[in-house]
Amino acid sequence: MLHQHDVLIIGSGAAGLSLALRLAQQRKIAVLSKVELNEGSTMYAQGGISAVLDEDDSLEAHVEDTLIAGAGLCDKDAVEHTVNGGPAAIEWLKSINVEFTIDDEPGSSNELHLTREGGHSHRRVAHAADATGKAIETSLVASARKHSNIELFEHHMAIDLIARGTHNDRYIAGAYVLDRHSKKVDVFQAKFVILATGGASKVYLYTSNPDGSTGDGIAMAWRAGCTIANMEFMQFHPTCLYHPQAKSFLISEALRGEGAQLKLADGERFMKRFDERLELAPRDIVARAIDHEMKRLGTDNVYLDISHKPEAFIQDHFPNINERCEQYGFDLSKGPIPVVPAAHYTCGGVNTDLRGRTDITNLYAVGEVTCTGLHGANRLASNSLLECLVFAKAAVEDIESREQVHNNEDEIPPWDESRVTDSDEQVVVTHNWDELRRFMWDYVGIVRTTKRLERAQHRVDLLNREIYEFYSNFKVTGDLIELRNLVQVAELIIKSALSRHESRGLHYTRDYPDENPYMEGVPTIMTPPNR
Ligand code: FAD
Ligand code: SIN
Repeated sequence: MLHQHDVLIIGSGAAGLSLALRLAQQRKIAVLSKVELNEGSTMYAQGGISAVLDEDDSLEAHVEDTLIAGAGLCDKDAVEHTVNGGPAAIEWLKSINVEFTIDDEPGSSNELHLTREGGHSHRRVAHAADATGKAIETSLVASARKHSNIELFEHHMAIDLIARGTHNDRYIAGAYVLDRHSKKVDVFQAKFVILATGGASKVYLYTSNPDGSTGDGIAMAWRAGCTIANMEFMQFHPTCLYHPQAKSFLISEALRGEGAQLKLADGERFMKRFDERLELAPRDIVARAIDHEMKRLGTDNVYLDISHKPEAFIQDHFPNINERCEQYGFDLSKGPIPVVPAAHYTCGGVNTDLRGRTDITNLYAVGEVTCTGLHGANRLASNSLLECLVFAKAAVEDIESREQVHNNEDEIPPWDESRVTDSDEQVVVTHNWDELRRFMWDYVGIVRTTKRLERAQHRVDLLNREIYEFYSNFKVTGDLIELRNLVQVAELIIKSALSRHESRGLHYTRDYPDENPYMEGVPTIMTPPNR
């Protein structure tokens, strides 16, 4: 089946739906979501969205904090562009009925309540209690469902981008997409295609992310010929709940922002041995400190304690987290809860400029799928929702200002299934998923060595061969598409990590434990073989 639209947006999170809503005034839009529309990292965001909203704060301070967290690898223009767009992004969210928490303390201005997170020198995180992502995603979905120019395709998984043109003048004309209900592969043709597919943290065994964070957009862009940047900088969130059934439920950094303390089993507040900012040091430092303590003591977790705060305060600020903790038998107001780090955010991704343009004509990318230069070697907390919104606005302005470069009227061949059959070896796919995620956790995690990275590379090579064979012989399934993408992303992470002979931000290797001053400002750019 052939679908034709002005713009194809792959992804329905903060990036995808804000793009759709802004573009739909002028154009016919298709939005794809590989599962339900609201399922993606956006839905689970807790802490909030950073923006300079307090008169004691300043844009310069937000820029400075972002640059410090980014450890010498941020693009200052991207940082300024994002931070400057913060207040307008919050206003736009309010205009689509996102209900932020109001500061209703006696004597307060009744403006938004601003919380604090690691690395921020001021209170500047606007939030909707401890479920900010749900408030944002629910409003975006409600607005998108009402818009007659937006056609929503749930359970539609993009497999690959369709590149046309010559080697030197390539452009993107659409995507092949698996309709997961009919199991048929459709062609979606569009004048512009935007990747808004989120991150790739599912490549690790333990992650705060939902199941769909499999790096599909990064892998598709790579196969289409886009450069990919900074993939070694995978962010591990310091505090996920440690419980066999909790599946890495996130315990927001906002708890530490409001005074929660990290402790060992004997009650020692160990962050004082690692950084003078204690629990509010940037995430890379806190996650590494926890990893160090767990390895030193041979323990499975450390503890987070906010029980010194009044029960009413905890209930008021963290109702959802408290409820989830109670389901697992923990009470935030009664004592410390067990926590561990888990893969959380993909700082690298598809290389874009400040307007979300990739290096292939007609292809844009926005949100966690990208590397815009904002995060550098480590993302500052709550800067990612902001990035989604600011870059969506910029991409829309760019698309609206452009006459299409190619008219995309050419005929696109349908998906060819003539040489494949149904698989009778699904176990291979399941096994490879597990194997990949485990060795990525063990060998390419918070602390790396060259030897471990080389081991991981060797295993990725084997998996690549098996998956190529499987993909060539059998009909595609959702699991196979995601596995193929995950292995591609794993390879990019490992190669990028092996190429960086220093430790910086989130990339820490025992073989090069120090920063190399000559590498300041030098991103890792991977160029695909087909360019
Ligand atoms: P997502 O919201 O992940 O959406 C991805 C979309 O792409 C989904 O609709 C998915 O179905 C679709 N998709 C993917 N692949 C395909 C495909 N092949 N075909 C079709 N569709 C596809 N950031 C903050 O700034 N503040 C926070 O407080 C915060 N808290 C967080 C808490 C948690 C638990 C997590 C996991 C993340 C948090 N983050 C936070 C990070 C932030 O939520 C994400 O970076 C951001 O929401 C990403 O938005 P996105 O639109 O790029 O992608
Ligand atoms: C959190 O609430 O701790 C997550 C914030 C973020 O990832 O930006």
